[in-house]
Amino acid sequence: EAKKIKLRSVQENIDTRVAVQGWIHRLRIQKGFAFITLRDGSGYIQAVLTGDLAKAKSTQELTLESTVIIKGVINKLPEGKTAPGGVELKADFYKIVGLAPGGEEAFSNKVQEKADPSLLLDQRHLALRGETLSAVMKVRASLLKAVRRVYDEEGFTEVTPPCMVQTQVEGGSTLFKMDYYGEEAFLTQSSQLYLETCLPSLGDVYCIQESFRAEKSHTRRHLSEYTHIESEMGFLEFDDMLAHIEKLITKTVQYVLEDPVSGPLIKQLNPDFVPPSMPFRRMEYIHALDWLNEHGIPNEDGEKFKFGDDIAEAAERKMTDAIGEPILLIRFPVEIKSFYMQKCSDDPRVTESVDVLMPNVGEITGGSMRTYDHDELVAAMKREKLDIDAYYWFIDQRKYGTCPHGGYGLGTERILAWLCDRFTVRDCSLYPRFTGRCKP
Ligand code: 4AD
Ligand code: MG
Repeated sequence: EAKKIKLRSVQENIDTRVAVQGWIHRLRIQKGFAFITLRDGSGYIQAVLTGDLAKAKSTQELTLESTVIIKGVINKLPEGKTAPGGVELKADFYKIVGLAPGGEEAFSNKVQEKADPSLLLDQRHLALRGETLSAVMKVRASLLKAVRRVYDEEGFTEVTPPCMVQTQVEGGSTLFKMDYYGEEAFLTQSSQLYLETCLPSLGDVYCIQESFRAEKSHTRRHLSEYTHIESEMGFLEFDDMLAHIEKLITKTVQYVLEDPVSGPLIKQLNPDFVPPSMPFRRMEYIHALDWLNEHGIPNEDGEKFKFGDDIAEAAERKMTDAIGEPILLIRFPVEIKSFYMQKCSDDPRVTESVDVLMPNVGEITGGSMRTYDHDELVAAMKREKLDIDAYYWFIDQRKYGTCPHGGYGLGTERILAWLCDRFTVRDCSLYPRFTGRCKP
């Protein structure tokens, strides 16, 4: 008999006769030998077929991505011979479950690492089988697990806010509109307002929920749908929130690196990765302008930065890459930030806001303290021309027991781009959505 195992447990089964099943990831057929690298999603193993097994017609006709069951003993390879995990399965039996096409339709013709990215995206369902993409997806799973673990340790409660909403959070220009039984509704841009309503009943809360942005711009770091990790905390001050954010990021990364699956994958994908250490550098918006001007990096109009200018993606990344460590960029001007942000008590031109910037990506997190005074909030919403009635439930938070509070959102795909050293967030989403792309 053979012991049925998953490939993640190869090391515990050395010298055992096992049955493994999966997809043919690599294939080398030689005279008298056939080498199959088998993949089952949990790992890889090299199987070697010899003698009659290797000579069989069915072996000669094997193709990449065919599914097979292979039985045999797992042997440790001598030093110098390399195969995944330093082991080899000496096959004594195999059976084809599903033969994949060869010739024109062969897998390798459909998915070529060097192919035009848009063709690869059409074949995303096949491309996901590649080593790099599947590694990023494993890290992604580990990241979400680690985030939940940190929130759990900190006593936060997870909630699931709705995706279909009738309010906006981050400006009307990026709203996806939908028809909701004849009423206008939107896909949520951020669950923030809903999280705020949870504070009085659940205390500190978080959610991991899709957010949707009809971003007109094609950039490396914008998706139309992304996985948004958001949190809201009550009765705290701005500095407490900054300390919390850097702890969340640092601990999450630590757990992902310690994880036996994702740790080695990050080493592989991003050998030079430097885990962040606390405290992160704090930098005020106004000092960032000085830095940019001193380093000759112009604003959007090609001029020197002045107070009130947005620090756009390119400039932000130049600065972050040059500084080369995590930055908490704080105290943005009122006019370039969202309506709900609390003004600083020592300077009402700026807000208690923060963006976390990471080398190679730039902004991975945006957050702020919230305006908690009822009248001040309503005035800000009116200035923004928001339909106050639609927000009655949000405004009620300032009526029925208001309190200082704040929160933030992290872009899962941006954290992954940073952790896994990917050029674009598109490589960090299972089926990325961006301008012009909604399939498969
Ligand atoms: O900075 P943003 O827009 O902030 C908010 O939505 C707040 N309401 C969050 C809150 O306070 N609860 O988005 C937060 C983060 C960004 O820092 C970025 O990492 C990510 O979400 N993000 C995107 N990621 C991919 N594609 C996009 N189009 C994104 N827009 C924002
Ligand atoms: Mg932002």
